[in-house]
Amino acid sequence: MPIYHQLGNVPHKRHTTHEKPEGGIYYEQLFGTEGFHGMSSLLYHVHRPTMIRSISEGVDVAPRAAISKNISPMMLQGWNVSPDSDFLKSRVHVLFNNDLNIALAAPSKSLDSYFYKNADADEMIFVHQGSGKLRTLVGNIDFVYGDYLVIPRGMIYQIEFNTSENRLFIVESFSPILTPKRYRNDFGQLLEHAPFCERDIRRPDHLETIDQKGDYIVKIRKENVMHEIVYATHPFDVVGWDGYNYPYAFSIHDFEPITGRVHQPPPVHQTFEAHNFVVCSFCPRLYDYHPKAIPAPYNHSNIDSDEVLYYVDGDFMSRNHVDKGYISLHPGGIPHGPHPGAYERSIGKKETGELAVMVDTFKPLKVTQAAVDLSDKSYITSWLE
Ligand SMILES: [Fe+2]
Repeated sequence: MPIYHQLGNVPHKRHTTHEKPEGGIYYEQLFGTEGFHGMSSLLYHVHRPTMIRSISEGVDVAPRAAISKNISPMMLQGWNVSPDSDFLKSRVHVLFNNDLNIALAAPSKSLDSYFYKNADADEMIFVHQGSGKLRTLVGNIDFVYGDYLVIPRGMIYQIEFNTSENRLFIVESFSPILTPKRYRNDFGQLLEHAPFCERDIRRPDHLETIDQKGDYIVKIRKENVMHEIVYATHPFDVVGWDGYNYPYAFSIHDFEPITGRVHQPPPVHQTFEAHNFVVCSFCPRLYDYHPKAIPAPYNHSNIDSDEVLYYVDGDFMSRNHVDKGYISLHPGGIPHGPHPGAYERSIGKKETGELAVMVDTFKPLKVTQAAVDLSDKSYITSWLE
């Protein structure tokens, strides 16, 4: 995240001694996301972050394709995924390609018996239901309904939920998740025409420093294999850090929609970008105000994009029979558009309360068996009159 941030104590100069009050020095770690040129932070640990006790044999957790070359529109009834008490096992991958995985999850318990690190992917966790606290080695972030949690790859974390009723929409991105470049100036500052600004970005605000020795399990996802490493010290032993690489939260309710006299194209809803995909937020807003405007989207054929919409709340104007937690997939190669009646119904309407998250991928998505099992088989003919 291109805002400098600091928590706890750091020495005046980088790569110099940071002395412990009781004697000895803290152990510095450069924590970057792309080589030595991407965003990074400098962390100061009580103990060496390299004290491995054991590494267990990895378990293959790669998503598998039930349909690898898909051209069918699909509607997944995402709310039907089963809750699971384990945070990682609750994650049901539905769509994926070489750039990202898309998953749904209904974790019913906090993740507190082990730690998790995704070494493959930045994670964007959209909180559809639930609240709690994201705990990381660089500090904590409280979250509620509507928050996007953006967690850079390599970040060790746990997550606390306040209740057992939690619903998450998750994107695992194999490249850094960034704010749109066109909304940033040369210094990384968000520009005046951006639909959100730095005040909306919630950074970690409470650094826990836990100086403990023992056996601490960190589950690490790398190359789609889940490894289990036992460390000899508590992973959250950082006394201070500074830099640009850290998790943050952004509420979809803080996204300020861009509207116009006639229909505005999806890029006005863009919130994040990564290599080969974008994430957009469709938020409650006033409709187009030309006297003859048609607020519903025109049919469109972005021949090179697969379009995934995750329906969060409100009445979704262009779809019939859509409920919260549903996911539509409109693959590239064929046009898609509003359902019969939706186009006409939208004329003269003043506003919408719809809330949805869209992921547009520039390479085709593969479909898992879990997605097939969640899908409404009648969807492909739902435009017939
Ligand atoms: Fe679309």
